[in-house]
Amino acid sequence: MNTILIYKSYHKMNTKRIARAMAEVLEAKLAKIEQISPTDLEEYDLIGFGSGIYGGNYHKDLMNFIDNLPPMNKDAFIFSTSGELNDKYNNLIKVKLGGKGFKIVGEFASLGEVSPLKFNLNLKGPLGWLGGKNKGHPDGRDLENAREFARSLLINDLN
Ligand SMILES: Cc1cc2nc3c(=O)[nH]c(=O)nc-3n(C[C@H](O)[C@H](O)[C@H](O)COP(=O)(O)O)c2cc1C
Repeated sequence: MNTILIYKSYHKMNTKRIARAMAEVLEAKLAKIEQISPTDLEEYDLIGFGSGIYGGNYHKDLMNFIDNLPPMNKDAFIFSTSGELNDKYNNLIKVKLGGKGFKIVGEFASLGEVSPLKFNLNLKGPLGWLGGKNKGHPDGRDLENAREFARSLLINDLN
């Protein structure tokens, strides 16, 4: 199974760390969204799309990239990191990928540290969005969950 993970990560590089953990298990190519063009995807059977969640959605660069893809008859999975976990964040990207002909074979989400200012007070509730929250995430357990998710994709492929 020839696999590539395409990601956008900029706030704390949280999603990059998740992507790297998955790519190691899958022995997959790892590419920043800026490094890749639609034709590069031809050689892959399974494509992972991931980013942080910003303003309730995957990064716009990732969404625009999907919008510009030709129809694809391939498997895909999605992954994200975010300040809070919410299934809703996956709705739009799933519609877009489905519209391009992708079959979604997995979804993964992890908490990611948020600290818009220089410090992280690790607050709970609405104040955390400014003072910092989820300090240290993704942590070791989150990364292990990401590896476990990647292993489940490999097992699905065998069945
Ligand atoms: C501008 C901005 C907007 C964000 N909006 C949301 C949001 O709507 N929902 C959420 O759960 N997290 C939100 N977050 C938190 C990020 O999703 C979280 O920090 C994520 O792990 C960042 O990923 P990255 O380090 O890979 O860029 C936001 C963070 C930033 C910087």
